[in-house]
Amino acid sequence: MSLARPIVLGNWKMNGLAGDSAARTEALKELAGASLTGTLGIFPPATLLDRARGWVEGSPILLGAQDCHAKPSGAFTGDLAAPMLREIGATAVIVGHSERRQYHAEGDATVRAKAEAALEAGLLAVICIGETEAEYLAGETLDRLATQLEGSLPDASDAARVVVAYEPVWAIGTGRTPTSEEIARAHGFIRDKLKARFADGGAFGILYGGSVKAENAEEILAVDDVDGALVGGASLDAEGFWAIYKAGIAPGA
Ligand code: 13P
Repeated sequence: MSLARPIVLGNWKMNGLAGDSAARTEALKELAGASLTGTLGIFPPATLLDRARGWVEGSPILLGAQDCHAKPSGAFTGDLAAPMLREIGATAVIVGHSERRQYHAEGDATVRAKAEAALEAGLLAVICIGETEAEYLAGETLDRLATQLEGSLPDASDAARVVVAYEPVWAIGTGRTPTSEEIARAHGFIRDKLKARFADGGAFGILYGGSVKAENAEEILAVDDVDGALVGGASLDAEGFWAIYKAGIAPGA
């Protein structure tokens, strides 16, 4: 079964010490209440996962990690394995974020191996893809997405266990976003590729990420084949993040 829409996930990146994070999570928990029609998740730094498991207890908020290693254990100083994250309370993990691809030189094969490790550990894999600004300007966006999809998604992917996040690198943290037409084109392309490769490709969640905030969420989340958002900076404010989630709820739902 695929995840309930909208799927709105907050990637806190390397932000948050226990005090402010507890308050932020508590505020979000109050807003979310006891149940949700969609999917709302937070991805705090790994250091907070153990505590965050307690913070979200009794709420529908999903808890995820920001990265995992491809191996279940071994001599990899400083890295964290998917089963460790699962044990500490994460039910999802982001892999292939552009900041990992850029600053840690992760290529598609590495991202795919990490996603496979996530699935093996029983974690939902949120697999990120997206073109750089140079690729965007050269009109190579769809080529780039095709390559990344092909290389980064495990063959065992299905709609219940994998979510694809389209994050144009040039839109992350910049306040710039593609037009609705550009987002529709990219998401439609990703949908077609998923359908061509996976039996349930039509049901995969496809998230848009890159400078999503309360002010532009309604427009972005209304675009065809946008099933939700992966939110960075704006997820650090509980009310703003909640407003993004609410903006994705179809009228009458
Ligand atoms: P911003 O929302 O801060 O642009 O970050 C997006 C992102 O990278 C989420 O993973």
